[in-house]
Amino acid sequence: MSKINNNTVLSGVQPSGDLHIGNYLGAIKNFVNMQNNYNCFFCIVDLHAITVKQDPKILKRNTLEVAATYIASGIDPKNSVIFNQSSVSAHSELAWVFNCVTRMGWLNRMTQFKDKAGKDKENASSGLFIYPNLMAADILVYKATHVPVGDDQKQHLELTRDIAQKFNRDFNCEDFFPIPEPIIDKNISRIMSLKDGSQKMSKSDLSEYSRISLLDESDEIIKKIKKAKTADSVMPGKIEEVQKLAEVNNLLNIYSGFSEIEKYKLVEQYEGQNFSKLKSDLSDVLVERLNPITTEVKKLMQDIGYLSEILLDGQNKANQVAQKTINDVYDIVGLHRNEA
Ligand code: TYM
Repeated sequence: MSKINNNTVLSGVQPSGDLHIGNYLGAIKNFVNMQNNYNCFFCIVDLHAITVKQDPKILKRNTLEVAATYIASGIDPKNSVIFNQSSVSAHSELAWVFNCVTRMGWLNRMTQFKDKAGKDKENASSGLFIYPNLMAADILVYKATHVPVGDDQKQHLELTRDIAQKFNRDFNCEDFFPIPEPIIDKNISRIMSLKDGSQKMSKSDLSEYSRISLLDESDEIIKKIKKAKTADSVMPGKIEEVQKLAEVNNLLNIYSGFSEIEKYKLVEQYEGQNFSKLKSDLSDVLVERLNPITTEVKKLMQDIGYLSEILLDGQNKANQVAQKTINDVYDIVGLHRNEA
């Protein structure tokens, strides 16, 4: 599986509901772009999903659907390792070691925990609190050097770097874990809600009109874009002015992310116009780009046997690498291993 360079990529997506265009632009699109140059591990993080309540039957189906989405988006399972997190036990084992490395103060600073736990912190699962340690384990068990993610995961990546450094220092094993780099594409790393440009597009938003799901039919896409919030003015001529109009800026980021047309060119193209033409052109681009993905996901979901084979193959390949790391970690930490 050696690629042009010998760097390793790991990233993951939670199987916690329909994926949306934020997940695609912020993460999956980069996975596809990186797969030919890096040794890639793409995980479906089912253990992270259960930090909040899930319906067991739906969770299993969602896990397969994320695998199908990876493949339908262009990740080649022969070229990259696709697997679900719970099938490789070294993730949980390394996470436990990291529970003992990470300081409480570090976890207390994590904004995602505060957002997700909300006002009822006492009632949040302890898994939700130590979630970033498992994420660090996902990355470091493959000694990944690069991690493509959306902007909301930046803080977790910084924590991962801190954990790697502290482990290397505490156990006197300089360079054992690499210090991984986040790969974050500035304009598309934080796709916002279609209804409110100050809120991130999210699977958990109660309104369907806030997001475009990767499985939306063409008429739903058109309807949602038509209803998307814009501004009372016309399109300004300067990017700096556009940036002050959060919802318009967001639509342009989405347009640019899917069309590969640079944002400043879109601003030139629509300068002085009201937003209806922008919206109808954006709908066309989305329908054209998403339809093949949607169709392929639906087709793959008819063939659960094939998806299960891909995940089993991924599990075997991932295990080979992860098992070696956890054996080394146990040795470094001083855990006694009984010889067979
Ligand atoms: P998750 O499942 O919430 O999201 C999956 C990926 O999509 C990105 N993303 C977005 N990007 C741009 N705009 C948005 N509105 C948007 N919403 C989500 C996320 O940043 C993410 O890259 N903790 C992770 C999963 C994870 C992981 C890992 C990621 C577990 N272990 C190891 C990387 C490496 C999460 O909850 O992603």
